[in-house]
Amino acid sequence: MIKSIISCIIISFLMINFCNSIKINGDGQQQQQQQQINLENSLPSFPYDQAVAEIFVQFSYAAYCNGPDIQNWNCTTCKNLPGFNIVSAIFNVTTNTQAFVGYTNNQVIVSFRGSMDVETIYPPYPQAKVHDGFYRGWASVSSQVRTSIDTALAKCGSDCKEIWVVGHSLGAALATLCVAEVQGWYTLPTYSYTYGSPRVGDSIFVGYFNQIHKNNYRVVNQHDLVPHVPMEGLLDYHHVPTEVYYPTNTTYIVCNDSGEDPICSDSVIGLSIYDHLHYFGIPCCCK
Ligand SMILES: *[C@@H]1O[C@H](CO)[C@@H](O)[C@H](O)[C@H]1NC(C)=O
Ligand SMILES: *[C@@H]1O[C@H](CO)[C@@H](O)[C@H](O)[C@H]1NC(C)=O
Ligand SMILES: *[C@@H]1O[C@H](CO)[C@@H](O)[C@H](O)[C@H]1NC(C)=O
Ligand SMILES: *[C@@H]1O[C@H](CO)[C@@H](O)[C@H](O)[C@H]1NC(C)=O
Repeated sequence: MIKSIISCIIISFLMINFCNSIKINGDGQQQQQQQQINLENSLPSFPYDQAVAEIFVQFSYAAYCNGPDIQNWNCTTCKNLPGFNIVSAIFNVTTNTQAFVGYTNNQVIVSFRGSMDVETIYPPYPQAKVHDGFYRGWASVSSQVRTSIDTALAKCGSDCKEIWVVGHSLGAALATLCVAEVQGWYTLPTYSYTYGSPRVGDSIFVGYFNQIHKNNYRVVNQHDLVPHVPMEGLLDYHHVPTEVYYPTNTTYIVCNDSGEDPICSDSVIGLSIYDHLHYFGIPCCCK
């Protein structure tokens, strides 16, 4: 059932972006001229580690479970992730956005499940534009996420030395927007892993993101369809770095910091929903 829901989400996502492209095509040219992508110094300061990525993909998948089961930390996926102290399962019914916050013995973890809808001004940096549905989704839970991180940090005390923000699919887009703000809220180092993320904003957004947050790995599995939408060039959508591309299910390339490295997922036509739902061969979502 989840599979058909996800297919529907992906298909409606593609349609919305198609309609949207017709609507806003007019100012595309103007944007093209202003774009300045700052690509310097955006490779993460820590190495990519597949073992860590496999744990965080399960935290990302767990966000698809029922809120009460997340709150009790007895959801199906939760059972694979012992030692996690849940602080809160967060849900906004208006935007259908779900997230949770908790901590291990040394990390605070924030994870997002996605939902979606179209491009808007990005309030923290108004020259940039981001996907409207993503931004509304993030904005609808941001204050609860912040309160929950505060609580997690208070409970964890000085043991928590890092904040991790993760998400899969549309949740990856929300995690990208979340981490861009969270890194400014605390002095702790903040990291992110995302899986199968769509493009979140335009190249001006990417330039801004690079300046404030370089510790991001954006994992793409083989022919996963979602990282190919919205299409690059459509309204100047551009991916954030740093992509880690899996050309097969066991080998990966850490791509360059352009966000759109032509030898990575941009080298293939992505049409696979199966690949979207099987990062590292681990089935999504809440299984
Ligand atoms: C989790 O625990 C709650 C309370 O004990 C219970 O009602 C619920 O059915 C459990 N959920 C799962 C998926 O085991
Ligand atoms: C849910 O999101 C809507 C729209 O962003 C917002 O008006 C509302 O206050 C949010 N609800 C909660 C409980 O934060
Ligand atoms: C990324 O790599 C491609 C070729 O693999 C190259 O054309 C492009 O200039 C590189 N970009 C950066 C920012 O390194
Ligand atoms: C990797 O791909 C091969 C061939 O497509 C398949 O037989 C295998 O089960 C896959 N492994 C995982 C972990 O998905």
